[in-house]
Amino acid sequence: MHTMGSQRYQYATPVGRQFDASQVFDPIVPPSTPAPGGVREFTLVIEEDVPHEVAPGVKIPAWTFNGTVPGPVLRATEGDLLRITLVNKGKVPHTIHFHGIHPAEMDGVFELISPGSSFTYEFIAKPYGIMPFHCHAMPTSQHIHNGLYGMLIIDPKEGRKPMKELAMVMSAFDIDRDGEADFYSWNGRAFQYADHPVPLQVGEPVRMYVMNIFEEAMVPHIHGNMYHLYPSGTGMQPTEYTDVKTLNIAERAILEFQYDYPGSYMFQCHVSEHMEQGLMGWFEVGDSVKTTERRNP
Ligand code: CU
Ligand code: CU
Repeated sequence: MHTMGSQRYQYATPVGRQFDASQVFDPIVPPSTPAPGGVREFTLVIEEDVPHEVAPGVKIPAWTFNGTVPGPVLRATEGDLLRITLVNKGKVPHTIHFHGIHPAEMDGVFELISPGSSFTYEFIAKPYGIMPFHCHAMPTSQHIHNGLYGMLIIDPKEGRKPMKELAMVMSAFDIDRDGEADFYSWNGRAFQYADHPVPLQVGEPVRMYVMNIFEEAMVPHIHGNMYHLYPSGTGMQPTEYTDVKTLNIAERAILEFQYDYPGSYMFQCHVSEHMEQGLMGWFEVGDSVKTTERRNP
Protein backbone atom coordinates (compact mmCIF):
# COMPACT_ATOMS: atom_id res chain seq x y z
CA MET A 1 0.00 0.00 0.00
CA HIS A 2 2.77 2.36 0.87
CA THR A 3 4.15 2.76 -2.64
CA MET A 4 0.76 2.68 -4.32
CA GLY A 5 0.65 6.41 -4.96
CA SER A 6 3.98 6.61 -6.69
CA GLN A 7 3.55 3.34 -8.59
CA ARG A 8 0.11 4.10 -9.83
CA TYR A 9 0.66 7.74 -10.67
CA GLN A 10 3.68 9.00 -12.49
CA TYR A 11 3.72 12.70 -11.82
CA ALA A 12 5.28 13.50 -15.19
CA THR A 13 2.37 12.00 -17.11
CA PRO A 14 -0.88 13.28 -15.67
CA VAL A 15 -2.90 11.31 -18.18
CA GLY A 16 -5.82 8.98 -17.68
CA ARG A 17 -6.66 10.07 -14.16
CA GLN A 18 -10.22 9.76 -13.05
CA PHE A 19 -10.98 12.74 -10.83
CA ASP A 20 -13.72 14.63 -12.56
CA ALA A 21 -13.82 18.38 -12.24
CA SER A 22 -16.81 18.33 -9.87
CA GLN A 23 -14.75 16.48 -7.23
CA VAL A 24 -11.89 18.93 -7.24
CA PHE A 25 -11.59 21.13 -4.15
CA ASP A 26 -11.90 24.67 -5.49
CA PRO A 27 -8.67 26.38 -4.40
CA ILE A 28 -9.99 29.87 -5.15
CA VAL A 29 -10.61 31.75 -1.91
CA PRO A 30 -13.93 33.59 -1.73
CA PRO A 31 -13.35 37.37 -1.78
CA SER A 32 -13.12 39.37 1.41
CA THR A 33 -16.49 41.02 2.02
CA PRO A 34 -17.81 43.24 4.82
CA ALA A 35 -19.55 41.26 7.57
CA PRO A 36 -23.20 42.30 7.94
CA GLY A 37 -23.37 44.29 11.19
CA GLY A 38 -19.83 43.22 11.97
CA VAL A 39 -21.01 39.64 12.57
CA ARG A 40 -19.55 36.79 10.54
CA GLU A 41 -21.65 33.65 10.78
CA PHE A 42 -20.81 30.13 9.65
CA THR A 43 -22.36 26.74 10.23
CA LEU A 44 -20.14 23.67 10.23
CA VAL A 45 -21.89 20.31 10.15
CA ILE A 46 -19.83 17.30 11.18
CA GLU A 47 -20.66 13.97 9.60
CA GLU A 48 -18.81 10.69 10.00
CA ASP A 49 -18.01 8.04 7.44
CA VAL A 50 -18.53 10.25 4.43
CA PRO A 51 -16.99 8.46 1.41
CA HIS A 52 -14.02 10.60 0.42
CA GLU A 53 -11.93 9.72 -2.61
CA VAL A 54 -8.33 10.54 -1.68
CA ALA A 55 -7.08 9.27 -5.03
CA PRO A 56 -9.08 8.04 -8.02
CA GLY A 57 -10.70 4.79 -6.92
CA VAL A 58 -9.38 4.98 -3.35
CA LYS A 59 -12.09 5.92 -0.87
CA ILE A 60 -11.90 6.41 2.86
CA PRO A 61 -14.73 6.87 5.38
CA ALA A 62 -13.86 10.47 6.19
CA TRP A 63 -15.14 12.65 9.00
CA THR A 64 -16.04 15.96 7.47
CA PHE A 65 -16.95 19.58 8.11
CA ASN A 66 -19.72 20.33 5.59
CA GLY A 67 -18.93 17.22 3.58
CA THR A 68 -15.39 17.99 2.44
CA VAL A 69 -11.77 17.32 3.43
CA PRO A 70 -10.45 19.84 4.24
CA GLY A 71 -13.49 21.69 5.52
CA PRO A 72 -14.55 24.93 3.85
CA VAL A 73 -12.22 27.92 3.91
CA LEU A 74 -13.66 30.40 6.42
CA ARG A 75 -12.86 34.06 6.00
CA ALA A 76 -13.31 37.02 8.31
CA THR A 77 -11.80 40.43 8.93
CA GLU A 78 -9.93 41.25 12.09
CA GLY A 79 -12.41 42.63 14.61
CA ASP A 80 -15.46 40.81 13.19
CA LEU A 81 -17.59 38.96 15.69
CA LEU A 82 -17.24 35.35 14.57
CA ARG A 83 -20.28 33.20 15.27
CA ILE A 84 -19.61 29.63 14.22
CA THR A 85 -22.22 26.97 14.89
CA LEU A 86 -21.07 23.37 15.06
CA VAL A 87 -23.78 20.79 14.35
CA ASN A 88 -22.72 17.28 15.33
CA LYS A 89 -24.47 14.74 13.13
CA GLY A 90 -21.96 12.03 14.05
CA LYS A 91 -22.05 9.21 16.58
CA VAL A 92 -19.27 10.46 18.86
CA PRO A 93 -18.61 13.84 20.52
CA HIS A 94 -16.70 16.47 18.57
CA THR A 95 -15.48 20.05 19.02
CA ILE A 96 -13.90 22.80 17.00
CA HIS A 97 -10.64 24.20 18.24
CA PHE A 98 -9.59 27.42 16.51
CA HIS A 99 -6.09 28.82 16.56
CA GLY A 100 -5.97 32.51 17.39
CA ILE A 101 -6.87 34.69 20.36
CA HIS A 102 -10.15 33.96 22.18
CA PRO A 103 -11.59 33.22 25.63
CA ALA A 104 -10.88 29.81 27.21
CA GLU A 105 -14.50 28.69 26.94
CA MET A 106 -14.35 29.19 23.16
CA ASP A 107 -11.21 27.11 22.78
CA GLY A 108 -13.01 23.92 21.80
CA VAL A 109 -11.20 21.52 24.06
CA PHE A 110 -13.33 20.85 27.17
CA GLU A 111 -16.86 21.41 25.96
CA LEU A 112 -17.50 18.26 23.95
CA ILE A 113 -20.48 18.61 21.62
CA SER A 114 -22.51 15.40 21.85
CA PRO A 115 -24.00 13.60 18.88
CA GLY A 116 -27.24 15.23 17.79
CA SER A 117 -26.49 18.54 19.45
CA SER A 118 -24.95 21.81 18.41
CA PHE A 119 -22.88 24.60 19.90
CA THR A 120 -22.09 28.13 18.80
CA TYR A 121 -18.57 29.43 19.20
CA GLU A 122 -18.47 33.20 19.46
CA PHE A 123 -15.37 35.35 19.63
CA ILE A 124 -13.70 38.35 18.03
CA ALA A 125 -11.59 37.42 15.01
CA LYS A 126 -7.99 38.20 15.93
CA PRO A 127 -5.21 38.50 15.09
CA TYR A 128 -5.15 38.63 11.31
CA GLY A 129 -3.43 35.68 9.71
CA ILE A 130 -4.06 32.07 8.76
CA MET A 131 -5.65 30.20 11.65
CA PRO A 132 -6.11 26.44 11.44
CA PHE A 133 -9.26 24.95 12.91
CA HIS A 134 -9.74 21.30 13.77
CA CYS A 135 -11.64 18.97 16.04
CA HIS A 136 -9.99 18.52 19.44
CA ALA A 137 -12.03 15.59 20.81
CA MET A 138 -9.93 12.64 21.97
CA PRO A 139 -8.19 10.86 20.42
CA THR A 140 -7.42 14.09 18.60
CA SER A 141 -4.98 12.41 16.23
CA GLN A 142 -7.84 10.25 14.95
CA HIS A 143 -10.35 13.10 14.66
CA ILE A 144 -7.89 15.24 12.71
CA HIS A 145 -6.58 12.39 10.61
CA ASN A 146 -10.11 11.41 9.62
CA GLY A 147 -10.55 14.81 8.02
CA LEU A 148 -11.78 17.30 10.61
CA TYR A 149 -9.63 20.30 9.77
CA GLY A 150 -9.74 23.49 7.76
CA MET A 151 -8.38 26.99 7.31
CA LEU A 152 -9.69 30.24 8.75
CA ILE A 153 -8.32 33.33 7.02
CA ILE A 154 -8.52 36.52 9.05
CA ASP A 155 -7.85 39.58 6.90
CA PRO A 156 -6.20 42.69 8.30
CA LYS A 157 -8.66 45.59 8.68
CA GLU A 158 -6.87 47.63 6.03
CA GLY A 159 -7.06 44.65 3.67
CA ARG A 160 -4.38 43.19 1.47
CA LYS A 161 -3.56 44.16 -2.10
CA PRO A 162 -6.11 42.50 -4.42
CA MET A 163 -4.67 39.38 -6.06
CA LYS A 164 -5.79 36.01 -7.29
CA GLU A 165 -6.05 34.07 -4.05
CA LEU A 166 -5.59 30.34 -3.54
CA ALA A 167 -5.99 28.26 -0.38
CA MET A 168 -3.91 25.09 -0.14
CA VAL A 169 -4.03 22.72 2.83
CA MET A 170 -1.25 20.14 3.00
CA SER A 171 -2.31 16.86 4.58
CA ALA A 172 -1.98 13.10 4.25
CA PHE A 173 -3.94 9.88 4.63
CA ASP A 174 -2.83 6.61 6.19
CA ILE A 175 -5.33 4.27 4.57
CA ASP A 176 -4.18 1.02 6.18
CA ARG A 177 -3.29 2.66 9.53
CA ASP A 178 0.19 1.23 9.57
CA GLY A 179 1.55 4.50 10.87
CA GLU A 180 2.82 5.63 7.49
CA ALA A 181 0.79 7.82 5.16
CA ASP A 182 -0.23 6.35 1.81
CA PHE A 183 -1.38 9.52 0.09
CA TYR A 184 -0.39 13.15 0.49
CA SER A 185 -2.44 15.96 -0.93
CA TRP A 186 -3.11 19.57 -1.62
CA ASN A 187 -6.67 20.11 -0.36
CA GLY A 188 -7.55 16.50 0.43
CA ARG A 189 -7.16 14.62 -2.86
CA ALA A 190 -3.86 13.26 -4.14
CA PHE A 191 -2.93 14.60 -7.57
CA GLN A 192 -6.18 16.53 -8.05
CA TYR A 193 -4.37 19.59 -9.43
CA ALA A 194 -2.38 17.31 -11.71
CA ASP A 195 -5.68 16.19 -13.20
CA HIS A 196 -7.02 19.72 -13.12
CA PRO A 197 -4.21 22.29 -13.20
CA VAL A 198 -4.76 25.67 -11.59
CA PRO A 199 -4.94 28.33 -14.33
CA LEU A 200 -2.80 31.45 -13.87
CA GLN A 201 -1.66 34.22 -16.20
CA VAL A 202 1.74 35.69 -16.88
CA GLY A 203 2.14 38.79 -14.69
CA GLU A 204 -0.93 37.97 -12.59
CA PRO A 205 -0.18 38.49 -8.90
CA VAL A 206 -1.05 35.40 -6.84
CA ARG A 207 -1.46 35.01 -3.10
CA MET A 208 -1.41 31.42 -1.85
CA TYR A 209 -2.51 30.64 1.71
CA VAL A 210 -0.75 27.42 2.72
CA MET A 211 -1.22 25.35 5.85
CA ASN A 212 0.35 22.08 6.99
CA ILE A 213 -2.09 20.09 9.11
CA PHE A 214 -0.26 16.74 8.94
CA GLU A 215 2.17 15.60 11.64
CA GLU A 216 5.24 15.70 9.42
CA ALA A 217 7.16 18.70 8.12
CA MET A 218 6.05 19.91 4.69
CA VAL A 219 7.96 22.08 2.24
CA PRO A 220 5.83 24.09 -0.20
CA HIS A 221 7.80 24.68 -3.39
CA ILE A 222 6.82 26.32 -6.67
CA HIS A 223 8.71 25.71 -9.89
CA GLY A 224 10.18 28.31 -12.21
CA ASN A 225 9.62 31.01 -9.66
CA MET A 226 10.24 32.44 -6.19
CA TYR A 227 7.77 33.65 -3.60
CA HIS A 228 7.55 36.33 -0.95
CA LEU A 229 6.93 34.62 2.37
CA TYR A 230 4.65 35.90 5.14
CA PRO A 231 4.96 33.40 8.03
CA SER A 232 1.54 32.60 9.58
CA GLY A 233 0.11 35.47 7.49
CA THR A 234 0.40 37.64 10.59
CA GLY A 235 2.52 40.41 9.07
CA MET A 236 2.21 42.81 6.15
CA GLN A 237 5.86 42.66 5.10
CA PRO A 238 7.43 39.51 3.68
CA THR A 239 10.29 38.09 5.71
CA GLU A 240 11.93 36.15 2.92
CA TYR A 241 12.15 35.73 -0.85
CA THR A 242 12.62 32.04 -1.53
CA ASP A 243 11.18 29.02 -3.30
CA VAL A 244 11.12 26.54 -0.40
CA LYS A 245 10.09 26.93 3.21
CA THR A 246 9.70 24.16 5.74
CA LEU A 247 6.32 24.34 7.44
CA ASN A 248 6.40 22.33 10.59
CA ILE A 249 3.32 20.75 12.15
CA ALA A 250 0.33 23.15 11.98
CA GLU A 251 2.50 25.94 10.58
CA ARG A 252 1.16 28.09 7.77
CA ALA A 253 2.25 30.91 5.52
CA ILE A 254 1.21 33.26 2.76
CA LEU A 255 3.22 32.92 -0.45
CA GLU A 256 3.01 35.73 -3.01
CA PHE A 257 4.34 35.44 -6.53
CA GLN A 258 3.70 36.02 -10.20
CA TYR A 259 4.93 34.19 -13.27
CA ASP A 260 7.15 35.83 -15.89
CA TYR A 261 6.84 33.09 -18.49
CA PRO A 262 3.93 30.97 -19.71
CA GLY A 263 3.83 27.19 -19.42
CA SER A 264 3.15 24.35 -17.00
CA TYR A 265 4.85 24.60 -13.63
CA MET A 266 4.72 22.07 -10.84
CA PHE A 267 3.81 23.20 -7.34
CA GLN A 268 4.68 20.57 -4.81
CA CYS A 269 5.89 19.55 -1.41
CA HIS A 270 9.67 19.33 -1.65
CA VAL A 271 9.70 16.19 0.47
CA SER A 272 10.06 14.01 -2.63
CA GLU A 273 8.09 11.10 -1.24
CA HIS A 274 5.16 13.41 -0.42
CA MET A 275 5.27 14.75 -3.98
CA GLU A 276 5.38 11.24 -5.46
CA GLN A 277 2.40 10.23 -3.34
CA GLY A 278 0.19 13.07 -4.39
CA LEU A 279 1.31 16.38 -2.95
CA MET A 280 1.85 18.03 -6.32
CA GLY A 281 -0.08 19.78 -9.04
CA TRP A 282 0.41 22.13 -11.96
CA PHE A 283 -0.01 25.81 -12.51
CA GLU A 284 -1.01 26.26 -16.13
CA VAL A 285 0.30 29.73 -16.81
CA GLY A 286 -1.25 31.35 -19.85
CA ASP A 287 -0.02 34.36 -21.70
CA SER A 288 -3.07 36.57 -22.11
CA VAL A 289 -1.03 39.45 -23.49
CA LYS A 290 0.21 37.38 -26.39
CA THR A 291 -3.27 35.98 -26.96
CA THR A 292 -4.65 39.52 -27.11
CA GLU A 293 -1.90 40.52 -29.51
CA ARG A 294 -2.76 37.58 -31.72
CA ARG A 295 -6.42 38.57 -31.67
CA ASN A 296 -5.69 42.23 -32.38
CA PRO A 297 -2.54 42.33 -34.45
CU1 CU B 1 -14.06 15.12 16.31
CU1 CU C 1 5.23 17.10 2.37
